[in-house]
Amino acid sequence: MTQMDIDLENIPEHVAVIMDGNGRWAKDQGQVRIYGHMNGVESVREALKAATELGVKYLTLYAFSTENWNRPKEEVEALMNLLVDTILNEVNDLNDNSVRLMAIGDLESLPEQCQLALKEGIEQTSKNDRITLILALSYSARWELVAGMKKIAQAVKEGRMEPEDITAESISSSLSTAGIPDPELLIRTSGEQRISNFLLWQIAYAELYFSPVNWPDFRKENFREAILEYQNRERRFGKVSEQIKTH
Ligand code: IPE
Ligand code: IPE
Ligand code: MG
Repeated sequence: MTQMDIDLENIPEHVAVIMDGNGRWAKDQGQVRIYGHMNGVESVREALKAATELGVKYLTLYAFSTENWNRPKEEVEALMNLLVDTILNEVNDLNDNSVRLMAIGDLESLPEQCQLALKEGIEQTSKNDRITLILALSYSARWELVAGMKKIAQAVKEGRMEPEDITAESISSSLSTAGIPDPELLIRTSGEQRISNFLLWQIAYAELYFSPVNWPDFRKENFREAILEYQNRERRFGKVSEQIKTH
């Protein structure tokens, strides 16, 4: 399969990825789980490169979930350290490729080192406009929806908003992805077919693509395969096939 097969006129604006299978990949190599996470960094570079080259505008990566705090302490610590090192190491490359970094999630719950590295990375890349890389950290959709509902309830309580003003748009605006278009495509690696509390509101009409490849083995070609599959799907949005076909 080559990039030639991809229709550059029909590239999703926003692709979200549940990067999964690092632990199993490491186990297959007779290594500890963190070795899988370390090798996953190269896959992030590959996915980002593929997305950038194709003209994707937003790439959201699920890097650490609210539920992942329940993992063994050593693994959580190792992941946080890896995050800090990776952000600091990659800032120059992000700038070279005009990548803007963003983060969503309960960022205040992250260790201070992580918050500082993120702040640094976000500030230093804030003027870039080719693609936005959004890291979901200490993120879960239910956490985000609870936070959003609280904001809306507070606005109603203070009289800044009426219950009638609550719309799909105002709920979208209350979330951490406010202003970012919903993902048209959600990729999950490692063969698991579940959402694991990721972007529940935003993926209402996303195409779901499940890849059997473990995240550390995921390469540009795998990303392009997902885009190609997306382009072969018919997105009907509740209509019938004949209404979609324009010719
Ligand atoms: C994904 O890989 C990375 C994170 C969730 C941080 P896993 O660590 O979940 O790997 P598996 O699913 O155990 O193989
Ligand atoms: C989902 O992966 C979270 C991230 C990719 C960060 P998990 O491996 O934690 O998901 P479950 O627990 O298997 O559903
Ligand atoms: Mg997993």
